[in-house]
Amino acid sequence: MSVNSLAPSWLPFPDDANDLASTVWSTNATRSATGELTIAGVPASEIASTFGTPVYVLDEDDARGRATAIRESFDAALASVGSSAKVYYAGKAFLSIQVAKWMLDAGLNIDVCSGGELAVALAAGAPGARLGLHGNNKSQAEIDRAVSIGIGAIVIDSIIEIERVADAASRFDRVQPVRLRINSGVHAHTHEFLATAREDQKFGIPLSEAADVVRRIRSHASLEFLGLHSHIGSQIFESEGFAEAARRLFAVHAELLAEGPVPELNLGGGFGIAYTSVDDALPVDEIATRFAEIVSTGAAALGIPVPIIAIEPGRAIIGPSTTTLYTVGTIKDVLVTDGAGTTSGAGESEAGAIRKYVSIDGGMSDNVRPSLYGADYSVRIANRTSTAEPALVRIAGKHCESGDIVVHADYLPGDITPGDLVGIPATGAYCWSMASNYNYLGRPPVVAVRNGEARVIVRGETEADLLRRDTGLETETP
Ligand code: LLP
Repeated sequence: MSVNSLAPSWLPFPDDANDLASTVWSTNATRSATGELTIAGVPASEIASTFGTPVYVLDEDDARGRATAIRESFDAALASVGSSAKVYYAGKAFLSIQVAKWMLDAGLNIDVCSGGELAVALAAGAPGARLGLHGNNKSQAEIDRAVSIGIGAIVIDSIIEIERVADAASRFDRVQPVRLRINSGVHAHTHEFLATAREDQKFGIPLSEAADVVRRIRSHASLEFLGLHSHIGSQIFESEGFAEAARRLFAVHAELLAEGPVPELNLGGGFGIAYTSVDDALPVDEIATRFAEIVSTGAAALGIPVPIIAIEPGRAIIGPSTTTLYTVGTIKDVLVTDGAGTTSGAGESEAGAIRKYVSIDGGMSDNVRPSLYGADYSVRIANRTSTAEPALVRIAGKHCESGDIVVHADYLPGDITPGDLVGIPATGAYCWSMASNYNYLGRPPVVAVRNGEARVIVRGETEADLLRRDTGLETETP
C-alpha cells in the first residue's frame, strides 16, 4: 500500500478501490458477476452505449423509496407527539415532470421557487393545493400565477411582498395561505452551526420584527397566516441547529398564538447526505425522531400545542439516487513538489508526489458543486473492476478552466485507462439543476433506471439545441 502525501487527511487509503460504499451509492447500484457497475439491473456500459456520456443515471426506486421513507418517518414521529407532518420535496434540488410525479405518488407536496419550477410541477399534474412557493424576489407575475392556480402556501420573504400577495389574492378572489420566512440568526454549516442575533443575508425577516409583520399579514382579509418558516442551511449532519432555530421560533410562535391561529411551523430542508465514505449522515427515522423531540419539548416549555410541522428536504431525497457516468479521455501523471522539490510521503519519487489527472467528457457544466463550493465527491471505475494498486486521482472536466474539477481526491485502481467509464455517485441534487452550457457543452440526458429498464426522462441537448436560440444568421446587418 502506498499512501500518497497529496491525499487529503480525511481520505482513507481504500481496502478495495472498486468497492461501492452503500452509504454513498444508490440502493440498487451493484457490481455484476463480471465486475461492471450495474444500476437497477442496467449495466453501465449499456447505458453509455445507448445514451452516450456524460449521462445522469437516476435510480428510480431509490428516489421513490427515500421520498416515502421521509414522509412515513415524519408522519410517525409527529403522530407520536400528537401532531402531524407536511413534507414538501424541494424541487430546486432536481425537478422534472417524472420526478415531480414520483414525489406526488409518494404523498409529498412540492416546493418550488420560481415560475419555471412551478410550470414543471403543474405540467406533472400537481394540484395547486400540494405546492408551495418560495423566493426572496418573486415577480408579480409569479405570485399571480401561483395564486391563480390555488397554490397551497406562499412563503412571504419581505414586507413589500405582503401587499403583492394580498393584492393578487383579492384580484383572484381567494384567501391565500401564507407563511412568513424568518431569518432566525441560526445558520448551519456542515458539521456545526452558528447562532447570531441577526444574520447578514438576503432571506427572510428578522425574528425581532416577526410579530409586527404577522400583524400586517393578518390585517389582510385575503391572506390566511399558516405560520413561521425557517431554513437554516443545507448539507447539515447535526440536529443542534434545527433545535436552536426551533427554540427561537417557538417563542414568537407562542406570542402569535395569543393573537390568532398559527396551525403550522415550517423548519425547511437541509438534511445532509454522504458524498464520500467518510460522511456520516443521520438516517431519516433518526432525524424525524429528533425533530419530534425538539418540537414537543419546545411546545411543552411554552404550554402550547405542537403545530403541524412542515419540512422541505431536497438533497436527502434525490441526491443519493443519481450516478453520473463519464468516459475517461486523457490521463496525466502530474509531479507535484512542495516547492523545495522534495516530499516526505511514502511511495513517491525523490522529486515529489504524483497526482494522476483523469479527464472526463463533462465537468463543471454538469456538476459545478466542486468548483463552486469545494464539494467533495467520490469516484469508481464503472465498466470493470481491477486489482491494480490504488492511485490517488483527481477527476478533471474538459472545460477551459483549471478549477474545473469534479472529484478533488479519491483512489482508483492505478491501471485506469482512456476509454474506461467512471461513475460519480450522489450527483442527484444540485448538479443537473445547476448545469450550464459553458463552452457550449450540451447538458447531458437524465436516464431513469428501474427493474433492468432504462428510459430518458429529460433528453440531452444536441448541437442543434445549442444553436437554436442564436439569431445571428437571421439578424445580420445588411
Ligand atoms: N427550503 C428552502 C427554503 C431552501 O432554500 C432549500 C435549499 C431547501 C428547502 C432544500 O434544501 P436541501 O434539503 O436540498 O438541502 N446549491 C447548493 C444548495 C443550495 C440550497 C438552497 N436552498 C448545493 O449544491 O449545495
